[in-house]
Amino acid sequence: PKRIWFSRHGESQFNLEDKIGGDADLSPRGQMYADALPELIEKHLGDRPLTVWTSSMKRTIQTARHLQYPKKHWKALDELNTGVCDGMTYQEIEEQYPEDFARRDEDKFNYRYRGGESYRDLVLRLEPVIMELERHENILIIAHQATIRCMYAYFMNLEHDELPYARIPLHTVIELVPRAYGCEEKFYKVNI
Ligand code: G3H
Repeated sequence: PKRIWFSRHGESQFNLEDKIGGDADLSPRGQMYADALPELIEKHLGDRPLTVWTSSMKRTIQTARHLQYPKKHWKALDELNTGVCDGMTYQEIEEQYPEDFARRDEDKFNYRYRGGESYRDLVLRLEPVIMELERHENILIIAHQATIRCMYAYFMNLEHDELPYARIPLHTVIELVPRAYGCEEKFYKVNI
């Protein structure tokens, strides 16, 4: 059976500063993840062919840097657009936009950042990616927390209220194997 692998980009400079959004480079630790990725993928891929998809952002392209497979960069895989909150920490958002912060907590799936997107918007944006994913053989998708949550939720049949809280840890490859009744999942963590 075919396999789908998801990975967030390696730790970025923004992750270190707890800032959301932006287009930061990988941190030194994030680069170590990028270094470790080819071996982990080879181990689980065997002799199957593979295509690697990334977003258009620096941190996913840098994470895929050492992978020697055909690549495609999709703008549709870019992280949730957080509009006016881009570059802020959650603490700053709570201080500057307390009502928004509370509304997001109430209904995280539908909350749309001012000048940005909601998880609901993302699900629509990702539709063409999911269509092509369904048609393809083995794919490794290197993307972002929110975009992976949407694709993961599609394959794992998560409800709208669960989707924005799905656990997609850093430095971990999630393997999904579609079966007759849902997907089998495995998490491969890289210790760095
Ligand atoms: O803003 C992008 C984050 O990766 C999404 O995290 O939706 O849990 O705030 P969050």
